[in-house]
Amino acid sequence: MEVINRYVTIKTHVDGAPEESDFELKASAVALSLEPGSNAVIVKNLYVSIDPYQLNRMKSYSSSQKSSDFAVGIIPGEAIDTYGVGKVLISENSEFQEDDIVAGLLNWGEYSVIKPGGMLNKLNPMGFPLSYHVGILGFSGLTAYAGFFEVCKPKRGEKVFVSAASGSVGNLVGQYAKLIGCYVVGCAGSKDKVALLKEKLGFDEAFNYKEETDLVSTLKRYFPDGIDIYFDNVGAEMQEAAIVNMKIHGRIAVCGVISEYTDAGKRAAPSMIDVIYKRIKIQGFLASDYLNIFTDFLSTTRDHLRTGKIKPLEDISDGVESIPCAFISLYRGQNIGKKIVKIAEE
Ligand SMILES: NC(=O)c1ccc[n+]([C@@H]2O[C@H](COP(=O)([O-])OP(=O)(O)OC[C@H]3O[C@@H](n4cnc5c(N)ncnc54)[C@H](OP(=O)(O)O)[C@@H]3O)[C@@H](O)[C@H]2O)c1
Repeated sequence: MEVINRYVTIKTHVDGAPEESDFELKASAVALSLEPGSNAVIVKNLYVSIDPYQLNRMKSYSSSQKSSDFAVGIIPGEAIDTYGVGKVLISENSEFQEDDIVAGLLNWGEYSVIKPGGMLNKLNPMGFPLSYHVGILGFSGLTAYAGFFEVCKPKRGEKVFVSAASGSVGNLVGQYAKLIGCYVVGCAGSKDKVALLKEKLGFDEAFNYKEETDLVSTLKRYFPDGIDIYFDNVGAEMQEAAIVNMKIHGRIAVCGVISEYTDAGKRAAPSMIDVIYKRIKIQGFLASDYLNIFTDFLSTTRDHLRTGKIKPLEDISDGVESIPCAFISLYRGQNIGKKIVKIAEE
């Protein structure tokens, strides 16, 4: 027996802002049988993650492609791997049985064949919707948790600025920061997002960066005494403006530079005099370096979700064919919270 697997791929490398015409929905037959002893698993994909870093994998060249096993270049025409949650259909691996719910490296398609050595773990949903395990209880959550607590090393009362604050990582950073008693300001790209940050997620302040003409003055307005921590999701001019406004011994976690992903010529050119004289620590990081704290992250975040102290923010599209549109929406600021595509019912 076999099934038809529909999956999304790129037609050619994508070197600028992604367009729907860059993508293609392909179909191929997957045999519902595995070589005995192959240790492989066939998974029916249920929810797949939509992440900005995939664009750097789609480029003809990006230095990121050489730096992490998760970020290797995507070959046009081939399936695109991604974090996701699925259900085991067939297993030749003794660790997995039919109907197990699993999380790991699946692909932007309806089925994934996971070979030995592939990243796959049994998932205990802990009573939460499966989609949470793609976002808030998955890699996005770990990114926010590790970047904020391990890289920024926050203290109660410190002043925290978060960019792309209504996004998957950003909204959680702000919520973690509020929970430990920081003053938190977020920026986002629309009036509705600003309202959500202040009214639903408890940010002290938020502003629409698209309405501001002088970001240095804007940040001075929100942080008259300076910023202790900047959680950077966007890079470029926002990073430059934040550095001008940092306090002495301020810390910057460079999580992502999304505004630079679509524009090869765009780069932050921060004032290094500020960095030196204010002894600012700027650190890039990858969530995958912090798998050692996954258990701690999971139990803390699970407890906050259960008590309602952290609110989940998800943005779910339906069906494999919606993946290109879902991905492009990240670069147009159309998502609110974790962008996920639901591929199938459990
Ligand atoms: N280091 C790691 O391990 C790691 C892991 C996950 C994610 N990341 C990075 O973290 C950042 C956030 O990722 P995410 O998954 O949480 O995505 P996200 O914030 O949910 O979605 C992207 C958001 O970025 C904003 N944006 C898009 N283009 C922009 C531009 N030109 N200038 C300013 N803002 C822009 C948009 O919001 P607005 O409406 O506010 O513009 C959009 O909603 C990304 O840079 C990503 O690469 C890093």
